[in-house]
Amino acid sequence: MGTPQDSGLRNQLALWLRPAVYLGHNLVTLAGAVLTTSSAFTLLAFWALLIVQGGAVRPYTGIIFFLILPGFFAAGLILMPLGVFWRRYRLRKAGLLPTVYPKIDLRQPLLRRAAGLVLGLSVVNMVILGTASYRGVAYMDSVQFCGQTCHTVMMPEYTAYQRSPHARVACVDCHIGPGAPWFVRSKLSGVRQVFAVTFHTYDTPIPVPVTNLRPARETCEQCHWPQRFSGDKLVVITHYGDDENNSPTKTVLLLHIGGRTLDQKLVGIHGAHLGLITYIASDRQRQVIPWVSHRNANGSSTLFEAKDNPSKADLLAHGERRVMDCMDCHNRPTHVFYLPAEAVDREMAAGRISPSLPFIHKEGVELLKKNYASRLDAETRLPDELRAYYRKNYFSVYNSQRQQIEQAAAALVYIHNGNVFPAMKVTWGTYPNNLGHMNFPGCFRCHDGNHTAKDSKVIPQDCNTCHTLLAMEEPNPKILQELEGGN
Ligand code: HEC
Ligand code: HEC
Ligand code: HEC
Ligand code: HEC
Ligand code: HEC
Repeated sequence: MGTPQDSGLRNQLALWLRPAVYLGHNLVTLAGAVLTTSSAFTLLAFWALLIVQGGAVRPYTGIIFFLILPGFFAAGLILMPLGVFWRRYRLRKAGLLPTVYPKIDLRQPLLRRAAGLVLGLSVVNMVILGTASYRGVAYMDSVQFCGQTCHTVMMPEYTAYQRSPHARVACVDCHIGPGAPWFVRSKLSGVRQVFAVTFHTYDTPIPVPVTNLRPARETCEQCHWPQRFSGDKLVVITHYGDDENNSPTKTVLLLHIGGRTLDQKLVGIHGAHLGLITYIASDRQRQVIPWVSHRNANGSSTLFEAKDNPSKADLLAHGERRVMDCMDCHNRPTHVFYLPAEAVDREMAAGRISPSLPFIHKEGVELLKKNYASRLDAETRLPDELRAYYRKNYFSVYNSQRQQIEQAAAALVYIHNGNVFPAMKVTWGTYPNNLGHMNFPGCFRCHDGNHTAKDSKVIPQDCNTCHTLLAMEEPNPKILQELEGGN
């Protein structure tokens, strides 16, 4: 037995339902219902499959199930009331809207069940909509969505990323970071990019630096703590010669990374720059830096200018004043591209290219520098040419070291296809690396001994400023023998 309050509520509901049932009889509402119901069942089946099967979803499957289908589902939900309103509007215009709807009495079990069904379905719909939105957003934040959906466009960055120390860090952790405003910005930018890809209006190669990249403080520094003192770091670099024996030499550097010491002093490479330096570059890629300002400990600042800085007024008027952060040195923390010689050095040092193959360093570098029409072309031609080289010049090696030759060929293809992407016009040296000074200007953009202050102080280029050179291209450095000797 219902209380009077109850029956009041019932009557209210009945009043509401009456027009809905009456007006629900129209094509738009029915289409909406069909759309919502069918996508709901498909979505539920897909989620169930994901739970049972687990694992990753292929890129286009992901787009369909995480983005498009929930879109249909939501569209259906919108169509249903829209149809009702539309029909109501038309009926009213035609003067056909009944003043009294057929009586709906919630005491009738059939109607009660119908009402229960509508309510229940609404709850189910809310749950599905919520789950779908959550999954859609999570999917758009996934490495797979960023790296693989626009396969060709992102291939250079995605490939290099997978080979880097950050391969387990999600794209969004560096490119978007935490917080709602950047989240919205990134989704808008994502939509723009989907259009650019669809209509092929994107740049090849993708220009750097990335405009509007989020400040490092809000990305890199979520994981790294640069103010922590890191001390010195011993770096050993192995080079191989272009002679028949691929003679190895070693360079040993003690890099003064530094940071903030316990007594709050800023020392070394990290300590010297962070938050203290503002600069203006005169080119898009920030490779030429004629104007550098340094904030001193006492609050004053020193201005260093390149001696041959022709367009000073223009630069000061229009140039972007940038406060130096992590990415001005670590501009390739994860999309690391190499030059042929250093890439071959690395593969040889790692044992994937055997130094026992005569002239492999020289020949490898030359083969890498050749033009291949595509990555596929490199996969077939590069190994062929390496085999041909040994068959022609070192027939006995060709016979006795076939396995090493095949392994070296595979490593060369790996290098080539990690650095050269003809479809995106990315090739050796397209993206400069600012960490160092051998292959690109890097540190020497400022530390070139040519940036002078009014009091004729210069940004130092002295070889011991940043590292102590313990050995330079020596076959067998004494310092390493001592370290390995354990004394
Ligand atoms: C460790 C941080 C980090 C991660 C993780 C990361 N990126 Fe980047 N990415 C950067 C930085 C820094 C730049 C800026 C380079 C510049 O401006 O010179 C960049 C630049 C890019 C560019 C511009 C072209 C280029 O090569 O500079 C693209 C495209 C890109 N990233 C895509 C991705 C994708 C896709 C992923 C995930 C598969 C990803 N990034 C993961 C830090 C990161
Ligand atoms: C989500 C966490 C995370 C973020 C964000 C992140 N890193 Fe890292 N980074 C790591 C981890 C983890 C490692 C260590 C990887 C290893 O040792 O294998 C690392 C390693 C490094 C290294 C040492 C690489 C090497 O060759 O040994 C550098 C340099 C670095 N990160 C710079 C950056 C910069 C610059 C950014 C911002 C663009 C950044 N990281 C953003 C987690 C992160
Ligand atoms: C002035 C240039 C410069 C700036 C700015 C800079 N770094 Fe570095 N950082 C270096 C150099 C050089 C190294 C040593 C590279 C190597 O190991 O070969 C290094 C090393 C590192 C390492 C590896 C440390 C280790 O012990 O292996 C991490 C992590 C790192 N930097 C993070 C950062 C972060 C995060 C920021 C921004 C807050 C930053 N760096 C700013 C130049 C810089
Ligand atoms: C945008 C310009 C700029 C770039 C790029 C730059 N530096 Fe600096 N660096 C400076 C300035 C300015 C100073 C302060 C010089 C002074 O006041 O004596 C400085 C100081 C230093 C110092 C401290 C020198 C001392 O005598 O105390 C070290 C070490 C250093 N830089 C290393 C590096 C390394 C390593 C790189 C490259 C990875 C680099 N810098 C890139 C501008 C730059
Ligand atoms: C402003 C800082 C700075 C100054 C000044 C500087 N270097 Fe370096 N140097 C670096 C950094 C950073 C690296 C990269 C280390 C790495 O690859 O991990 C490097 C690397 C090197 C290497 C190894 C390169 C390789 O691939 O074999 C040599 C050799 C070298 N420096 C020599 C010199 C000499 C000689 C001078 C003096 C003219 C000098 N450096 C001045 C910062 C500096």
